[in-house]
Amino acid sequence: GRSSAAVTDKDLLSKTTGNNAQIASLLDTNPPKGTRDFYPPDMRLRSWLFSQWRSVASLYGFSEYDAPVLESESLYTRKAGEEVTQQLYNFVDKGDRNVALRPEMTPSLARMVMAKKGGLSLPLKWFSIPQCWRYERMTRGRRREHYQWNMDIWGVDGIQAEAELLSAMVSFFKNVGLSSEDVGIKVNSRGVIAEVLMELGVPQEKFAATCVLVDKLEKVPLDAIQGELEELGLEKSTIEKLTSVLTNKSIESISAVLPPDSQAIQQLSQLFTLCKSYGIEDWILFDASVVRGLAYYTGVVFEAFDRKGVLRAIAGGGRYDKLLETFGGDPTPAVGFGFGDAVIVELLKERNILPSFEGSGFDTVVFAMSDDLYGVAVEVASKLRAEGQTVDLILEEKKAKWAFKYASRIEAKYVVIVASDEYANGEVTVKDMSLGEQKAVKINALEQWAKDL
Ligand code: HAM
Repeated sequence: GRSSAAVTDKDLLSKTTGNNAQIASLLDTNPPKGTRDFYPPDMRLRSWLFSQWRSVASLYGFSEYDAPVLESESLYTRKAGEEVTQQLYNFVDKGDRNVALRPEMTPSLARMVMAKKGGLSLPLKWFSIPQCWRYERMTRGRRREHYQWNMDIWGVDGIQAEAELLSAMVSFFKNVGLSSEDVGIKVNSRGVIAEVLMELGVPQEKFAATCVLVDKLEKVPLDAIQGELEELGLEKSTIEKLTSVLTNKSIESISAVLPPDSQAIQQLSQLFTLCKSYGIEDWILFDASVVRGLAYYTGVVFEAFDRKGVLRAIAGGGRYDKLLETFGGDPTPAVGFGFGDAVIVELLKERNILPSFEGSGFDTVVFAMSDDLYGVAVEVASKLRAEGQTVDLILEEKKAKWAFKYASRIEAKYVVIVASDEYANGEVTVKDMSLGEQKAVKINALEQWAKDL
């Protein structure tokens, strides 16, 4: 850091460039601000999380897909004043194309569905774990890149789809050891907003931008969005009326201020009934203040949150039946969610239920006590690998003490030592690291030893 005045830049330079008189700039070893390196323990954690996501996705019959990180910028130029579109990592490439790193997966998914021009059989249930890029102000749980589990259903217009997605999300929470006391999922419908706007005579084309504004009001006072309000041509009183409707805490109280035949209320009630069938009602609560910040949501929206209220939203999603039309495609109902890798890890750490990823996860360390036995160690390693054991073969001559220390550091389960006396009897020594016991095993019985574990 800057504080170590003892080491001057010149010292460092002479170290890094040697006698080379060239002026080299010092390498900053930090990854770009807001991005992460994944050293092996970080990578093990990430793979563990992804495998939890993947296993839930397949339990629910979702197929995995992917798309490029780099997309055309035009995929994201929506004009509703959303944060995501202002946080775009965009640039002009060498072919003069305006491109951007994806800030989210949903537009790519829509593009992929549209590219097949009805050739895909609907409904489809697809999932993905893309890395997404947003030029964000950094806070706890928000970075400039994150991985985001996406689960989407296309072609189902009933709220059965929402219920299935909520259930999948809950399955994940349960699988990683969280309960409905740790996590809740707030559910609302933008249909409520649509109905209030209709009553107030606000034209439909203002719906999306109004939702985005109302979502912002969670974070900033009404005065702070005065400019945006004027640009939209909305009365301050419209927003005030909306926000007062959205403070209702129960479906009953909100239905009292909506038209008697409110579709939004019908759907929400139906959704809550279905959640009971799934047995997830403890996790789900109605909260009219949840709007979500993305412009394309049209109906039910939801947000998983930490009940202690310390962390930012864990996941968010909703119905977006009009997105394909905005790209010029046929109307196709769709609903899904995005679930980031940051907040959930914070939460699991906080609850002390995140597994340890310090150990390598490898089964066995194999090493030869002397160079002349290295060939035998190779044969031993090969036999064990053929049995499916993960083997870390020590490639250099090392003392036994070093090898045991190493094996315990990487948390290997076994150490196989090839030493001359035992080798003379056709044997190796096998140490069980957890029991601390050592025994001799015939080299030609090693396969059987591995099979019996
Ligand atoms: P979103 O609400 O913008 O939705 O993000 C979904 C989730 O991604 C958030 O709840 C959070 O877990 C994670 N996330 C977003 N931004 C960041 C960040 N800067 N750092 C860390 N985590 C972040 C969408 O992106 C929608 N496309 C989701 C969706 C899929 N809706 C329908 N299908």
